[in-house]
Amino acid sequence: MSQIPREFIQLLLARTELVNLITNRVQLRKKSNNNYFACCPFHTEKSASFSVSQPKQFYHCFGCGAHGNAIDFLMQYDRLSFPEAIEALAKLTGMEIPHESKVSAKPAISVDMYALLANIAKYYQTELRNSEHAIGYLKKRAITGSVARDFCIGYAPHSWDHLLHTFGKTPALKQQLLATGMLIKKEDGGHYDRFRDRIMFPIHDCRGRVIGFGGRILEKGEPKYLNSPETPLFQKGHELYGLYQALQANRQMKRVLIVEGYMDVIALFQHEITYAVATLGTATSAHHLQLLFRYTSEIIFCFDGDQAGRTAAWRALLVALPLVRDDIQIRFMFLPEGEDPDTLVRKEGKLNFEYRIQNALSLSSFFFQAVSAQSDLSNMDGRARFISMAKKHLDQLPAGILQKMMFEELAKKAHIDAAQLTKPQRIASYRNPAPKARAPSSLRLALTLLVQEPQLADSINEAMPAVALEMPGIELLIELIENIKHYVFPNTGALLEHWRDRKEKKLLEKLAHAEHMVPETGIKNEFLGAITQLKKLIRNQQIKQLLEKAGRGELSSEEKQLLHELIHTKEYP
Ligand code: CTP
Ligand code: MN
Repeated sequence: MSQIPREFIQLLLARTELVNLITNRVQLRKKSNNNYFACCPFHTEKSASFSVSQPKQFYHCFGCGAHGNAIDFLMQYDRLSFPEAIEALAKLTGMEIPHESKVSAKPAISVDMYALLANIAKYYQTELRNSEHAIGYLKKRAITGSVARDFCIGYAPHSWDHLLHTFGKTPALKQQLLATGMLIKKEDGGHYDRFRDRIMFPIHDCRGRVIGFGGRILEKGEPKYLNSPETPLFQKGHELYGLYQALQANRQMKRVLIVEGYMDVIALFQHEITYAVATLGTATSAHHLQLLFRYTSEIIFCFDGDQAGRTAAWRALLVALPLVRDDIQIRFMFLPEGEDPDTLVRKEGKLNFEYRIQNALSLSSFFFQAVSAQSDLSNMDGRARFISMAKKHLDQLPAGILQKMMFEELAKKAHIDAAQLTKPQRIASYRNPAPKARAPSSLRLALTLLVQEPQLADSINEAMPAVALEMPGIELLIELIENIKHYVFPNTGALLEHWRDRKEKKLLEKLAHAEHMVPETGIKNEFLGAITQLKKLIRNQQIKQLLEKAGRGELSSEEKQLLHELIHTKEYP
């Protein structure tokens, strides 16, 4: 993996105009002072609560709380991953992304590797045509020739080195076969084929390139399925089997069904349910879901009806919760015990199976079913447990209509007033790990102004004294000032980017759109006033700490000197 240098990301943001970026996707109206408004693209609404600030290079929706800089906007609106958003902005601004390679550089991906795997897939398909044994197996499983072609199903011959001899003619080629996971290295340095005597399912990425394989044993035996190992081309947590075929078969996908196995995807496809994908022997990840939501607005998880299926569904729900938005749907369907989509669709046909899909549980129904199953609602204790468990998970939902509705539903089920559930957690004070004392308001004001106008840092001449203080948030202020002076962030969006992976980011984002009530012309004075106030507070705390130490007779001579200076220097103006 190579990493994109931070400086480049800053440069990219500096060259991007957020207002233009958004205007190309959402119709903005000018409000005042380079501020723009629109109906929020991230939730359904009639009045415009989505605001974009040109000077801050930051957007914020007062309705659903969506916010961020240009990178966040592309991630949320175009549903891009972080690197993809960077790529898109680089393209827009005509910049080339430099890559810093990490110490443990993985083997580079070359076009050759894709070509190699594509050729191997073809070779397996040829081998299938030559093997009565393999054809017999597919017939037994009622797989038609047409769907076998759509999925490029093949056969790996019963041999330890057939692939090795066909494709590994030079050391360089052998190396590529190893890097793509097609060969396994022996202790004596030799190599042998990973896949032998198996039905082969090529795994495509969403652009149709072969990136790996799954292989099923023909008879009984272990392991039933063998997959390519993780390679530079193939990461299980990112890929979905059948997505490429689904995208080919549907210009638009109203919904996507997530099932468990290769055979399930194929059997459904054969029965004209062409929108199923399978995770590759792993649990569904947030990555998988984000990938799918680029192509569809509804995802239906399909699980076995047994306890294991329910447990897997609950795990999937926990992964999905933070991603839920008002304009997307996630539902859950459970199959009768002993069936999987492959057996069921063959037994009852397309219409019945689609009827099941239509009747899949909504996320909220499944959620409340699962949480109620874990508590006894007939008594007070059980209800309290139910509420606290549900609330813990619902707090994970992004603010929006769905969250509101789920809280209302919870209130109804627990026979309490919905207001009791949602009231407390509102903005205003910031929550550092354990706020011992309420933060002085000058600290909050200084932080807010600084986040909204990073250039203010330049107006501070004297560094803030860096001493251990009982003032949650002060370290952050000091760090902000130092960082801004060092990196010169031109606006809020760029500053927040620098904090992307930090836990303080949430607080900074909150401050980025907080209403500070200071008129434009007074901002610098207010800011410097707050800083002076803070320095005073810091000095007083320092004096207090030193005096306490003096009382215990623990003061060193340097500390005595410091105390003397602190007491006798004039107050700050
Ligand atoms: N799987 C795997 N490794 C195994 C078993 C299963 O990676 N040893 C994954 C495969 O992706 C497989 C899925 O889990 O498709 C479901 O496994 P299972 O239910 O056992 O198989 P089916 O899909 O029902 O396969 P078949 O119908 O061919 O028996
Ligand atoms: Mn099966």
